[in-house]
Amino acid sequence: MLLAQISDTHIAPSGRRTYGFVPMAENLQKCVAHINTRPLRPDLVVLSGDVTNDFSRNEALRAKSILDGLDMPYVVIPGNHDDRDVLYDVFAGPACPGRVAGFICYTLDLGPLRLVALDSTRKGAAGGELCKTRRDWLEMQLAGNDKPVILALHHPPLACGVPESDEDGFLGAGELGEIVARHSNIERILCGHIHLHTHARWNGTVVTTAPSMGMPLDLDLTQARPSRFLIDAPAYLLHHWTGAGNLITHHVRVETLDGPYEFADREEAE
Ligand SMILES: [Fe+2]
Repeated sequence: MLLAQISDTHIAPSGRRTYGFVPMAENLQKCVAHINTRPLRPDLVVLSGDVTNDFSRNEALRAKSILDGLDMPYVVIPGNHDDRDVLYDVFAGPACPGRVAGFICYTLDLGPLRLVALDSTRKGAAGGELCKTRRDWLEMQLAGNDKPVILALHHPPLACGVPESDEDGFLGAGELGEIVARHSNIERILCGHIHLHTHARWNGTVVTTAPSMGMPLDLDLTQARPSRFLIDAPAYLLHHWTGAGNLITHHVRVETLDGPYEFADREEAE
C-alpha cells in the first residue's frame, strides 16, 4: 500500500503565479508527472490542504484541472487558504467524498489501512480547530475498529517551533490529543500548513508534516521575525505501508538528479 501526500499547493488564479512570482501551478504539474512515473504506483494521493492560495473558485478549478492529470485517485482536505464550500463545490465526488455538517470530513477504507480525513479549518482564522461536531464525528469513525488509521488534517495539532503552528494555534488540540491517546491504532497523523517536513511524537503516535509544493519556510526557529518563504523544488511524501506492518515515509524532491548508479566500482577514465 503506497500513499502519496502532497500539500500546500497554493494555486493562483489562471494565468497568474502565486503572489505574482511563485510558479506553484507549474510545480504541481511537475509533481503530478513525477508521481505518475513512480515505479511503484501510489494507490492514492492525499492533498493535505491549502489547495488554493486565496479561497477562489477559479484557483480551485485550476488546481483540479492539474490534479485530474494524476493516473490514480486523489482526495483533498481544506486548509486555511481554502474555502470549504468552494472546495466541496469543485471537488465533490471521488476527490472529496464526504461532508459532515458542512465540514469536509470523510473516511476511506484503503485495504490494510483506513484514512480518516478531518477538516481542521476555522473560518476567518489561520489556525486549526476541532469543534464538538468534528470531535463527535471523529470519535464515531474510530469506535469499534482496530484497523490501523492514518488521520489526515491540515493543521499540526502541536507547536512545531514556527509561527504557523505556535502563533496560529489549534483550538481543541487538547481534546484531539485525548482522543488520539485512547486509540493506539492511529498509526500516523499527516498534516501540512507549516511548509516543512517534520516528525514529532504526540500522544502515542507520530505527527508528520509535509513539505510544500516548492514554497518552504525560511527556517530559523527563533520566531524573532515574521515568516518568510523560499522558492525551492517541489517535494512530496510517499508513505509506504510495508508487508511488515510499518508505515515508512520517504521525502521525494521533484528535480533532476545525477544518476542512478550501481553500487559497483567503475574503471576510471584514462
Ligand atoms: Fe500553506
